[in-house]
Amino acid sequence: MKMINKIALSLAVASSVLFVGCHNDSDTAKAEVAKGTISEESLGLRKTDLYSERKDTTGDMTRYSKHYAGSGHKIARAFQDAPPMIPHDVEGMLPITIKSNQCTSCHMPDVAPSMGATALPVSHFTNFRAATGIAKDGRITKNGVAVDNTSSSDMAYVSIKSTGSKLSGARFNCTQCHAPQSDATDAPANTFEAVFSDKDGATKSSWSGSRLTDSLDTLAD
Ligand code: HEC
Ligand code: HEC
Repeated sequence: MKMINKIALSLAVASSVLFVGCHNDSDTAKAEVAKGTISEESLGLRKTDLYSERKDTTGDMTRYSKHYAGSGHKIARAFQDAPPMIPHDVEGMLPITIKSNQCTSCHMPDVAPSMGATALPVSHFTNFRAATGIAKDGRITKNGVAVDNTSSSDMAYVSIKSTGSKLSGARFNCTQCHAPQSDATDAPANTFEAVFSDKDGATKSSWSGSRLTDSLDTLAD
């Protein structure tokens, strides 16, 4: 704190010297620098000493939901088809490993209704990745077709295939996209207002069935 004041003061002095002669408004510049002195404590969300962890340091403390899964508590979606935040406690469910994914034990469509959970949507049972290989001539193949440019702008190599009742591998790691929400009361207010294209967009996904493939010309459908 003291250090910063000293630096700011010497900066103010230095700049006033610099400004003399080259600027008519050197007094204004000096005033601006002096006014801009910032204390370390005011820089971040925490308003306490940066050099010690005191009990009153709550700025960066995470407070995850303690609502148990099944309490009916949900969080409005941030925008149309945003991955919904996890509204319930995830204590004991993380990390997700190849051997243990508790999320699927409640959210797979065959069990979800009986658990009162939202079923995994159709997008999670869709493979959006073209099968990629290498042809004999060394060119890359997409769905068996040798291609020269894998960054086709007309999306010709996007593949949209149902994975049936098997969860797509790309959706296995739920917390890569879905996060539990921390109740951080000290965080700056969010003034973003979503404009949902569907009237129930705040609570439901609109991606389903043919809407996934609308206006896409793909190699495999
Ligand atoms: C014990 C069953 C159970 C488990 C395990 C579970 N959930 Fe849930 N989940 C629910 C229920 C029930 C809801 C509906 C809200 C509620 O009642 O809590 C829900 C809601 C959600 C939602 C919000 C859906 C929406 O429409 O807003 C997301 C996202 C979610 N869970 C993700 C996960 C993830 C990721 C995991 C694994 C870390 C997980 N859940 C584990 C039961 C479960
Ligand atoms: C690659 C990112 C990604 C991964 C991984 C992922 N999701 Fe999602 N999820 C989304 C997005 C984006 C949406 C909203 C659009 C949609 O429905 O596809 C969504 C929607 C949902 C919904 C709401 C469905 C509805 O009908 O409103 C639930 C529940 C859900 N996901 C649970 C899970 C669970 C559980 C897992 C792990 C097994 C998981 N997701 C893995 C991105 C992901």
